[in-house]
Formats: sequence, C-alpha cells, structure tokens
Amino acid sequence: MSNVEKMKLEIYPDQAAGSVAVAQQIAQIIREKNAKGETAVLGLATGSSPLKVYAELIRMCREEGLSFKNVKTFNLDEYYGLTQDNDQSYWYFMHHNLFDHIDIPAENVNVPCGTMAMNEVESWCEGYEKKIEAAGGLDFQLLGIGRSGHIGFNEPPSDPQSKTRMIHLHQITRNDAAPAFGGLDNVPTSAITMGVGTIFKAKKIILMAWGASKADIIKRTVEGVMSDDVPATYLQAHPNCTFVVDKAAASLLERSK
Ligand code: GLP
Repeated sequence: MSNVEKMKLEIYPDQAAGSVAVAQQIAQIIREKNAKGETAVLGLATGSSPLKVYAELIRMCREEGLSFKNVKTFNLDEYYGLTQDNDQSYWYFMHHNLFDHIDIPAENVNVPCGTMAMNEVESWCEGYEKKIEAAGGLDFQLLGIGRSGHIGFNEPPSDPQSKTRMIHLHQITRNDAAPAFGGLDNVPTSAITMGVGTIFKAKKIILMAWGASKADIIKRTVEGVMSDDVPATYLQAHPNCTFVVDKAAASLLERSK
C-alpha cells in the first residue's frame, strides 16, 4: 500500500482476472456458511462491473457443484418507475445475468421494488432494512462505483448513516445510463437504494472498478479525503473493505506513477 492510499487495494492485470478472484471469495463465504449449516447473506450489485463475477459464479455452480440453495441475496438498488419485465430494470438484470442460471430459491432473492406508490416508499424502505436484519445482516456486499462517486445509488452528498431510501440520480449517472436507455430522456430521475449506513453494516465489502473511465474516481476515493462529495470515500473507515481493480482503473494512483 502506498502511504497516500487510505484503502486496501488489489490490482489485477484485467477485469477477467480480478473477477475470478472476487468470485472465489464469494464462493468461499458460501462454502464456509454451508459447512456450518448457515445461510450466506449476500449483498449484490448491478452495472457492467460485476458481469464477469456472475459468469464465474454460474460456471462454479454448473461445473464445481457450488450451490446457492442456502444463499439469500439483497440487491443494492433499483430504478424508480421500472417494472420487473423492463430490460433496464435491475430485477431483469439480476435474473438474466445470475439468478436464472443458478440453483437459488426464488424466495431467497430480494431486489428493491421500483413500482410502489410514492406514499408507500418510506414504509417499503423500512421493510427492506428489517428484512436484511432478520436474515442476520449482510455477510458480504459487492459494489461497483459510479463516476459520480456513488455506491449503490448513494449520490453525493449522501449521509454516512443513510438507510434504504429514494434518491435523485446525479446528472453524471443519468448521462452514463443514457445509451442503455436509448437516450437521456428515457433514464429515470430517481431510484431506491440501500443507504451508505446499510452497506457499511456488511461484514465484508469488495468494491470493483475496471477500465480507464474509473481511474479518476478511484484516485479520488482511494487517495482523497473522506467526504460526502464522494460517498465511496466512507469505505475508508470500514474494517473489512477491499478495492479490486484492474491496471487501467489504478493508472492515476500515485503508486502507478
Ligand atoms: C449503477 C449502479 C451502481 C454501479 C454503477 C457503475 O449506477 N447503481 O451500483 O456501481 O452503476 O456501473 P458500471 O459497473 O456499469 O460501471
């Protein structure tokens, strides 16, 4: 670790290598919990960053007998206003890229709802927090990072104690999502997200970042001062958080100079 880094960081040659390493850590948690007859509670993420991790977990399930029968999952976030069958919804993403291909029981899967009425949002979010607690809390949380510095959809300035709630999406986030939605006008303006405080309670956290487009935000998060301008910097204070990045995402760090 260089002395300007405030985060435990592992650098891999590329996304493929880093993703296999992350999948192995997740598999280890599942196996350890299984061996004790306990349920593994995993917090999962969407976006392009976890895609190869999910592909590797699917391969392990098919070829190595890694079972998800005793796994519960809680996803970080969902766009507000999208139904589950919308191909841009995170419900759709998770089923398409992971859940439909592994042996996880449907009732063990939790993705925030994006379609409750506005006056039901608060009670729905309280219910999500309670459901995570009732499951025993998150053993693990997988994260990507938005170029705005968000984790989940905790845009700046998010409070470190924040809980699951509705947020307004940052302009950078909406611009980044625009191509997938066929134009900025189609991108939702708000979302439901676990809070920073919700994420922070996870026993172990891995944040992944791949590619040069993440180099600037990785530098600000890993070497910068903790602040609500970059909510991901709160992770500097988590006791068991590792950033797993590729060379391109690490390219602006002092140690790469
Ligand atoms: C979305 C998600 C985040 C994710 C981010 C980065 O905004 N809500 O959880 O980390 O995108 O996406 P990507 O992994 O595609 O760069």
